[in-house]
Parts: sequence; C-alpha cells; structure tokens
Amino acid sequence: MPTLLEMTGVRRVFHPRGEPEVEVLGGIDLAVQDGESVAIVGPSGSGKSTLLNLMGGLDRPTSGCVRLAGDDLARLGDADLARLRNRQIGFVFQLHHLLPQCTAMENVLVPTLAAPDRGARPRQHARARELLERVGLGHRLDAFPATLSGGERQRVAVARSLVNRPRLLLADEPTGALDVESARELTALLVELNRSEAVALVVVTHSRELAAAMDRRLRLESGLLSPADEAQP
Ligand SMILES: Nc1ncnc2c1ncn2[C@@H]1O[C@H](COP(=O)(O)OP(=O)(O)O)[C@@H](O)[C@H]1O
Ligand SMILES: [Mg+2]
Repeated sequence: MPTLLEMTGVRRVFHPRGEPEVEVLGGIDLAVQDGESVAIVGPSGSGKSTLLNLMGGLDRPTSGCVRLAGDDLARLGDADLARLRNRQIGFVFQLHHLLPQCTAMENVLVPTLAAPDRGARPRQHARARELLERVGLGHRLDAFPATLSGGERQRVAVARSLVNRPRLLLADEPTGALDVESARELTALLVELNRSEAVALVVVTHSRELAAAMDRRLRLESGLLSPADEAQP
C-alpha cells in the first residue's frame, strides 16, 4: 500500500513567553500507509495531541517534514493547508464539538460548507444521511445535540469527520469522555469504518481495548516514538 502520511525528523519546541524552551517532540519518524490503523499511546503530557495536530496540519513543526499523499505541508500556504485539511483529513476529539443549535444532519454537513457547490448538495445530503445511518443514528437525523447521549454525540462527530471522504482520520482520545459501553461501541464503529471507508486511522488513546483493535501501536515518550508493548498501552 502506498504511504499516505510521512513524518521525518519532526521536532516541536514550545517557547512560552518568559519560560524556558520545551522540546515536546524530539525527532519523529513515522509512515502511515493508506487504510492502516495506528494507536499512539503514552503518558499524559508526552506530546500525543501535539503529534496529532502536526499530522493534521493544525500546527507546524519547528523542524522536520510532514508529507500527506506526497505533499510537503510546509510548502502549503494557510489557505491551501485549510483546503487539504478539509478534503483529506477528518478529526475527532475527546469532546464532540457539535454545534448546539444545529441538528445531527446539519452538524454532519458542516465540513461540506467550506466549498459551497449547489450541484453537489443532493450528493452531500445523501452521504450525510448514509453516514448517520451507519453510525446507528438514522432515526435521529433531526435531533439536536442536547437531546442525544454522550455516545450518540460522539457518533455524530464521527459521521461529520467522514462526510468529505477523507483519506486520513485523526482521533484524539475519542472514547476518553465516554462510559464503558459507549466506548466499546465507538471502538467497534471506528474499526468498521476504517475498513469499509478505506480511511487510514491514527488514534491517540488511553483505552487498552481501542489500542488493541488497531493494526499497530506506538508509544510516545520523551519526545520519541517506539513500538508499544501490547501488554501495557
Ligand atoms: N501551544 C503550546 N504552548 C506551550 N506548550 C504547549 C503547547 N501545546 C502543548 N504544550 C506542552 O507540550 C506538552 C505536551 O502536550 P500535549 O501534546 O497536549 O500532550 P498529551 O496530549 O500527550 O497529553 C505539555 O507539556 C504541554 O504543556
Ligand atoms: Mg492530549
């Protein structure tokens, strides 16, 4: 399978005003293949969210290179980077970040609004409905987030992340705020969508179950990635 995401020598140093520099990532080399699933585990504060943000072009490395489908993200201006993020990358966070005044359908359609195209609207609506059906919410299309459970809201967020058919789905502790049963459902759903949508999945997680469901596991510690022992994610 071709390489979708490639990070080489990626460093990220933060320098908060009036404080010493902190090197959070000290030289990350990572390749993620099309359709692959990867778990990133590691202690709190080890830089997992920082790493995911760099993969998704939400942040730029201090040095090193991030390539997505061959494009060097550093060569893209902010507008091109935003377009690439919108089309190629889906994001799911620990909190769903749904718009409270919009229905489930409207929330799923939000990423399609970046490039308004009247001709594409029927197709986008069909896609949004199909995704909500696939995450088990076909009967809640017009529901507002406040009337959904935590697990249901997170499933709407997953549907939203896939509406533009991205090649890469980045999930930052997607089950972190869910009860055990909802977390288990979301894990099964992510595994199923990774396969059926042929979308590569990189998931940061503290959940042993979710990590175990991925093709491989990597541990981030002291700014570096290494293969993780399955016994202790
Ligand atoms: N924008 C920022 N400015 C300064 N420090 C930051 C910033 N973002 C993250 N950090 C620091 O980087 C370290 C790693 O943070 P983070 O990536 O959120 O870790 P994790 O997701 O593994 O818990 C922490 O020490 C955090 O305080
Ligand atoms: Mg984090």
